[in-house]
Amino acid sequence: MCGIFAYKGHRNNAPEIVIKGLKMLEYRGYDSWGIAFKTDHALNIHKQVGKIGDFKISDLKKMTAKSQLAIGHSRWATHGGVTQMNAHPHCTEKNEIAIVHNGIIENFTELKKILIKNGHIFKSETDTEVVAHLIEENLKKGLEKAIKMAIKKLEGRYAILVISEKEDVIIAARRGSPLIVGVGKDENFIASDIPAFLEYTKKVQYLDDNEMVIIDKKPKFIDLKTDKIIKKREVPIEWNVENAEKGVYPHFMIKEIMEQKDTICRTINQNGGGIEKVVESIKKAYGTYLVGCGTAGKVCLAASYLFSKIAKKHINTTFGSEFPSYHHFLTNRSLLIAVSQSGETADTLEAMEVAKEKGCKLISIVNVESSTMARMSDIIIPLKVGPEKAVASTKATTAQLAILTLIAYALAGDLDRGKQLLINTAGQINDMLNPRYEDHIKTLAKKIAGVESMYVIGKAVNYPMALEAAIKLQEVSYIHAEGFAGGELKHGPIALISKGTPCIAIVANDETKNDILGNTIEIKARGGYIIGVSPENNEIFDYWIKVPDVGDASPIVNIIPIQILAYHLAIMRQNNPDMPRNLAKSVTVK
Ligand code: M6R
Repeated sequence: MCGIFAYKGHRNNAPEIVIKGLKMLEYRGYDSWGIAFKTDHALNIHKQVGKIGDFKISDLKKMTAKSQLAIGHSRWATHGGVTQMNAHPHCTEKNEIAIVHNGIIENFTELKKILIKNGHIFKSETDTEVVAHLIEENLKKGLEKAIKMAIKKLEGRYAILVISEKEDVIIAARRGSPLIVGVGKDENFIASDIPAFLEYTKKVQYLDDNEMVIIDKKPKFIDLKTDKIIKKREVPIEWNVENAEKGVYPHFMIKEIMEQKDTICRTINQNGGGIEKVVESIKKAYGTYLVGCGTAGKVCLAASYLFSKIAKKHINTTFGSEFPSYHHFLTNRSLLIAVSQSGETADTLEAMEVAKEKGCKLISIVNVESSTMARMSDIIIPLKVGPEKAVASTKATTAQLAILTLIAYALAGDLDRGKQLLINTAGQINDMLNPRYEDHIKTLAKKIAGVESMYVIGKAVNYPMALEAAIKLQEVSYIHAEGFAGGELKHGPIALISKGTPCIAIVANDETKNDILGNTIEIKARGGYIIGVSPENNEIFDYWIKVPDVGDASPIVNIIPIQILAYHLAIMRQNNPDMPRNLAKSVTVK
């Protein structure tokens, strides 16, 4: 949540660099934005409501002179409404410093009361402005010292960037929210995520929790607990600019859906024995917990069925936000496997922190290899799908499913068979994702674009896929959608069905087929419009979307047409599928 980015270097167009970089981070927050930049020791601020993507760089020329130092922020509101005042950067009355922040200062109300008593005047409703005033209190001691003193008073999670009128540096600090330094030649960058500076450098240094970095000619890292300077390794990045751009596609969401032609193969091509290490850890553990949020949480639930069926192994699954309530069962022999695209989801990170405190082993199945989750883990299984920028997770979801299928097979002593199944599945996805297939789904989208509600049912491993399908439909089409286990319908939800209600039935060609078809007949009898997602047609279906028959990999192929449907429903309902309302890509607040 919230994208932050800063530049200091030899180029004279720092504001432009920061605005361009922020556009690359817009998926993190897009209700308002702002920048602060330095010209001849003066701080200039520009902030406005709306998407930074809509701002034309050419308009910038009107408001900026030459500048070699700038910070910026694209906001996802937490404290205070979406207004220009609440947009970042924030300053104090004297305008001596400017600050941008990602995270939540939990004790901001108490701090604000004290600051107001001390005579500070607040302009915004944000928690961030409190940090600006705290820094100002000790600014006479120098910016570095003042920030250190302010940070000591903060509770909660933060990544902050600060610049001052008097000093030609950017100072950043983090606890719980991501910040990565991009190291260039006579120039440096700092951002919440790598795509912001990918155009300029592929060398990064990671800022960890309770650390500060002073961005000058060379970044200087400081451990905030010991106040000692830390040496950091420069790490090369494999991603390239094209990965992080839309290319020929109108939106990232459809680009990322189509990339699933290749991603599964990349994902399962894991070297280094990671899968085997995970299997060993599961075998040794007294209790394995699979934890994720949102879509990743649904993937965890699907994996529990895969582990049960393929490996005859019980695995516990829960959402990140719920996991801490199970801490009573954890011991130093428990294993937590975190599943995530971003590796920065606050609820999943909290689950990992709780597990770490109990001495549990930590594994992460994660896309962003530079993320906090990856760096906290004993073993990392990377998804290798490249940057996923649309808020709606697509290629990361199927990659997570592929990895967990592979682990289930490996646990059953049959890794090669698992690999073969997934290679075959990847080939089938390649055939499936052709323009005719997309058109067929578009035709369905046209038919149902005006509905108020729709439902999705599935059974066994495809029950979590019904839940995931509902998330996809909700987040980009804004149609009220819910997923159910087919067998649960008759216990209540069937009352929701009336004439013409679209209901997607995920019908796998396995032992669950007859049951789920039975549930579909019950819906049809109440007037429901049945959309079958299945390898075979059936007379009960009003609309059939064919998927390949890939056995245990069925969740992977079943979710893809529903991703496409959600995308086209969003377009037809004139929603921006890449930036759905109220959401952000990376949920770094609890
Ligand atoms: O980055 P993560 O995978 O940890 O994110 C978890 C959820 O926030 C995420 O899956 C969310 O539900 C997606 N927007 C769904 O498409």
